[in-house]
Amino acid sequence: MVHSIYDQVLKDSNVAMPPQVNVPAYDDANGLHMAAVEHLFVGTRNATQLAEEGGPLMLVGSDGIYVDDIEGKRYIDGIGGMYFRNTGHGRNEVAEAIYNQLKDVSMHVYAGSTPSTVRLAAKLAEVTPGDLTKTFFTSGGSESNESALKLAQGYHNRVGERGRYKVISRKGSYHGATWGTMWLGSHPFLPREEYQPVPSHVVHIADPNPYRCPFGGETPEECAELCANSLEEAILFHSPESISAFIAETVSQPLGGVVSGPGYFQRVREICDKYGVLLIFDEVITGFGRTGKWFGADTVGVTPDIMTIAKGLTGGYFPMGGAIASKRVSDAFTGGPDATFKHMFTYTGHPAGCAAGLANIEIIEREGLVENCRIQGERLWDRLQEIKDKHPIVGDVRGIGLLQGLELVKDRNTKEHWPASAAIGEKITQGLMDRGVWIRVGSYIVPLAPPLTITAGEVDDLAAAVDGAIGDAERALGV
Ligand SMILES: Cc1ncc(COP(=O)(O)O)c(C=O)c1O
Repeated sequence: MVHSIYDQVLKDSNVAMPPQVNVPAYDDANGLHMAAVEHLFVGTRNATQLAEEGGPLMLVGSDGIYVDDIEGKRYIDGIGGMYFRNTGHGRNEVAEAIYNQLKDVSMHVYAGSTPSTVRLAAKLAEVTPGDLTKTFFTSGGSESNESALKLAQGYHNRVGERGRYKVISRKGSYHGATWGTMWLGSHPFLPREEYQPVPSHVVHIADPNPYRCPFGGETPEECAELCANSLEEAILFHSPESISAFIAETVSQPLGGVVSGPGYFQRVREICDKYGVLLIFDEVITGFGRTGKWFGADTVGVTPDIMTIAKGLTGGYFPMGGAIASKRVSDAFTGGPDATFKHMFTYTGHPAGCAAGLANIEIIEREGLVENCRIQGERLWDRLQEIKDKHPIVGDVRGIGLLQGLELVKDRNTKEHWPASAAIGEKITQGLMDRGVWIRVGSYIVPLAPPLTITAGEVDDLAAAVDGAIGDAERALGV
């Protein structure tokens, strides 16, 4: 495009002329791949490797549990987009709800609200457990956790406990990518060591993973008890008066759906109550049916003081999340001007997102997707156990509902992982693609989180592809 006056001004100045850029046509597969390599940071992908592969998977359509790429190839979506597509692909009624909302009221004004925003907040108070009744809306999971941390510290400040600012999290959990959240937990495939310094509010404790119990616990129960006790030790070590909150995923995604042993969260709840520490459940993935109950809190039988949500709230049809406070927490923010929750995002409670959330939750309820998740999750579990029985490189099967994973090992006795040179993740990713399944396998975890709409036959198709891809990898590695 030529802007003659602009071009002349640029020529006369020291400002560099912008390069000639070709914006590819919507259906120009080759042009789009090249432009992606040139102009787009594709999250977590290595730019050189992406260029060698000729660009990222370019989606142009999706339906049910399937996604279609621009070359006309169809894949089973094995991880529900990115753990968000709980209601399945191609939901026109969610798209229509967004469209109708935008035609009607497309924004809220500063410090105001809209009917859809209020209705979704009330709906969330209805479907979440206990007295989690007041929501602060965000545009995604990281913002939800940021908001939860501010709610927690703000709560303590308002009840006269000003020194409480530290947050305890667990290794092996993920809570976001922003400056305030990225150091919480730890994600083996998303290291953040280069982003220093570690913020002073962050404290880490052990991951209650029964397969690799950090304290050598030999049963899930023993591991649960030892790991929960390490929370108490951390609180005492740092001084209870300095601790604001403990944040945890009820089932941790980074390692393929780590389910802590029985009693873990009950003991955690007791410890938090004993020392006045707020309990935050990050339900960004586990919410909205993913674990076979409405929320992970229902699965572990414990209600947090604050719950964070995103992904499955709108099924990923609109970027939206929230931090939901219990009555005890939200009550601290009522009273005189000092009580106000001084926190906002421009798009908090966007009515289009709220309309999407309401339509999405209605689908979950109408189609019984929470129950379907439980049933198909059990079927997937059985199929994955069969795969483990057959393949020596599968060390562990873990998870619940439709949040499951396989851990790959070189040696089942020592639980040693394959070296990077074995490229086992790449091999299995490719084997899955060849069989029409889209899951990126990060090194030694094969994650599985298909849409909750999946049928029994589709579970079997997905499992058959995993079986075949692991078999290919074993042959290539001479197992
Ligand atoms: C458990 C959990 N919490 C928080 C986040 C961050 O959410 P977002 O990427 O929407 O900021 C994620 C993202 O994957 C997540 O899995």
